[in-house]
Amino acid sequence: MAHEIIHNESLNYQDYLVKIRAPEVVKRIKPGQFVVMLLHEKGERIPMSVRRTEGDAVVMYIRKVGKTTSTLIDKPVGDTIQHVIGPQGTPLKIEKYGTVVVATDSVCGHAWSYSAAKALKDAGNFVIDIQSFADKEETYPEWALNKDACNEHHLTTKDGSVGEKGHFIDLIKDWLKNGKKIDFILAGGELIKLKRLERVTKKFDVPNWVEAHQLMIDATGMCGVCRVFVDGEMKLTCIDGPFFDAHKLDFDSMINRYSTYANEEKVSLQQYKEQRGE
Ligand SMILES: Cc1cc2nc3c(=O)[nH]c(=O)nc-3n(C[C@H](O)[C@H](O)[C@H](O)COP(=O)(O)OP(=O)(O)OC[C@H]3O[C@@H](n4cnc5c(N)ncnc54)[C@H](O)[C@@H]3O)c2cc1C
Ligand code: FES
Repeated sequence: MAHEIIHNESLNYQDYLVKIRAPEVVKRIKPGQFVVMLLHEKGERIPMSVRRTEGDAVVMYIRKVGKTTSTLIDKPVGDTIQHVIGPQGTPLKIEKYGTVVVATDSVCGHAWSYSAAKALKDAGNFVIDIQSFADKEETYPEWALNKDACNEHHLTTKDGSVGEKGHFIDLIKDWLKNGKKIDFILAGGELIKLKRLERVTKKFDVPNWVEAHQLMIDATGMCGVCRVFVDGEMKLTCIDGPFFDAHKLDFDSMINRYSTYANEEKVSLQQYKEQRGE
C-alpha cells in the first residue's frame, strides 16, 4: 500500500515537518516507538521518530542529511512513498515519577520528546521540557516547540542568540547543584552529550534514561548492526530500545559504532546532488 505525503513544511534551513498517511501504524503506536520508511522497493530503510499522530497520519520532524531524506523532502505534497513500517521498538515506560525532565538537542529528540513529555504529563508528572539548539537559525518556530506538551518549557541555544545560553546539561547541572529535586531524566541527542549527562546524573544519583541512537539496517532484529551493550549484555536498539538506562549503557562502544559508515554516506549524498545538478 502506498502512503501519501499530506504535509511538508520547513522548520528551519535543514529540518522539515512531514505528515504521511499510515493508518495501521497510527492505530498501534505508543510514545518512544518509531517507524521505518522505504521510499521505493529498492530504497534504503530509514528509521524515523514519530512526534505525534494526526488523523490517520504520522507527524515527523525530518532533517535533510543524505540521499534518502533529501529525496523524501524533495517530494511534493500528494506524492507517495512505498512503505511506512511499524511501530518498531519498545514503548517508553510511562509512570508517575514526580518531577521529570525531558531534554533533547537533536531533530530526532525534538520529534519523540513531544509525545513522551505529553504522556508523562498526562500520567501526573510535573514535566520540565528542555529543547537545546545551536543558534537562532537552527531553532524552530514557537508553534513547533514542545510548549503545549509540558508544565515548564526551556529553550536554550549554544550561543545565547535566543532563549537561555548553553545546553540542557548546563541547566540540569545547575538545578541539581542547587538542590532541585528531579525524580527522572529522559534525554536524547548527541551521544557525547548524553555520555556527559550520565556522569552528572550518576553523581547526583538521579535515574536517567536516554535514546541510544544507533545505525539500523533492517530495523527488525535480523542484522545485529544496531547492537549496544547494557550492563554487559547485548541489546538491539531496534527491538529492545531505543531507550535504555543511561547508568547501564556502554557509551564508548555505541559512539564508535555510530560513525562506521560516514564515508560511504558522504559519497552517496554527493552522487545524488550531482544527478540533480546541484
Ligand atoms: C530510532 C531512530 C529514530 C530516528 N529519528 C529521526 C527523526 O525523528 N528525524 C530525523 O531527521 N532523523 C531521524 N533518525 C535518523 C534517520 O534515520 C537518518 O537521518 C536517515 O536514515 C538518513 O538517511 P539518508 O540516506 O538521508 O542519509 P545517509 O547518507 O544514509 O546518512 C546520513 C547520516 O544519518 C545517520 N544515519 C544514516 N542511516 C541511519 C540509520 N539507518 N539509522 C540511524 N541513523 C542513520 C548517520 O548519522 C549518517 O551519518 C532516526 C534514526 C533512528 C535509528
Ligand atoms: S537494525 Fe538490524 S538488528 Fe536492529
